Amino acid sequence: MFSGELKKLMNDNLLRTIRDRESGSTASRIIIDGREYINFSSNDYLGLADHPLIIEAAKKALDKYGFGAGASRLLSGGTELHGELEKMTAGFKGADSSLLFNSGYAANTSAIPAVSGEGDVIFSDELNHASIVDGCRLSKAKKVIYRHRDINHLSELIKKENDNRKIVITDTVFSMDGDIAPLKDIHDICIRHDAILYIDDAHGTGVLGNGHGALAHFNIKPEQWIIQMGTFSKALGSYGAFIAAQKNVIDRLINTARGFIYSTALPACIIAASIEALRILREKTSLTEKLRQNRERLLKGIKDLGLDTLNSETPIIPVVVGDVETTMKFSEHLMKNHIYAPAIRPPTVKIPRIRFTVTAAHTEKNIDKLLEALSTHNP
Ligand SMILES: Cc1ncc(COP(=O)(O)O)c(C=O)c1O
Repeated sequence: MFSGELKKLMNDNLLRTIRDRESGSTASRIIIDGREYINFSSNDYLGLADHPLIIEAAKKALDKYGFGAGASRLLSGGTELHGELEKMTAGFKGADSSLLFNSGYAANTSAIPAVSGEGDVIFSDELNHASIVDGCRLSKAKKVIYRHRDINHLSELIKKENDNRKIVITDTVFSMDGDIAPLKDIHDICIRHDAILYIDDAHGTGVLGNGHGALAHFNIKPEQWIIQMGTFSKALGSYGAFIAAQKNVIDRLINTARGFIYSTALPACIIAASIEALRILREKTSLTEKLRQNRERLLKGIKDLGLDTLNSETPIIPVVVGDVETTMKFSEHLMKNHIYAPAIRPPTVKIPRIRFTVTAAHTEKNIDKLLEALSTHNP
């Protein structure tokens, strides 16, 4: 079954395969097939995934609550920790209220169809994450795609839709390009057109705005027309996601978001880990500062080599080196030099690239080793 399709993917250099690691955390080091690499592919931006306090918090909750949640939140799957994390998250994001989802994918595919429907119009950036695209597909709203970060295009398109509820949806940090949505301008457009602004702050949370995310970065007050989605699975080193918004929005999600209603709750030990991670993020600003310094060092080094980093503004730094085959060879060259940074290929992106992610856990030596490997590549 499917052998023709798989063979075609293989011939086109587009077949995806899984490479599982033997090592623990992934922020800066990884062992695969017995070989150690410096890892530049992890979203554990602050290196929190193996923080001793987070591990201890998870262990304590494991002892107290057991592992599996046993049921959905609306039945008996939630614990007092779930509510505590929701309160903390709402406070951290400056929102009235928040609701946990089992993953960022589940949050977008559940919340978007829950807050939009027939007669509504969704405006979505063309490079939004696949989970937003799928959430839009599940919604009965009309979909209008605007050019990547193109405010004039969004403005032009939104003017044409006068009678409906409008929702503008954007990633804050684009996960494959590492650039940032022009949120201030998008927010102004939303205000002018009475539109809801739905942001996916998966890669902004813990990274932008001293860790508070994109709204803090742009100095935008989290008012009632803004819905913030974020994840615990990236800079917070844990797992799961949230929507932070006005209480009415959260009540609507509790009553209509299918990925919330019809899915088993996250285990309490994961929630305990997220609580501890948020606590660390609130208190340890040196982590976000270290991340910023590491990013600057790497970006400057890559640019000095004359490589194309598209419009990266964050710890996600794409490097474009050519077609799929060249990009694959480039990734292999890096692996030979003990650098782990897989190629990202279509259909995930239109332009093949190596996507480097730098974290607060990398040392200057790690970064310099990558730069050395990049400088010795002959295309
Ligand atoms: C922008 C964006 N949104 C949502 C998700 C999904 O989050 P999760 O990995 O928690 O499902 C991701 C992660 O891949 C992402 O990059």
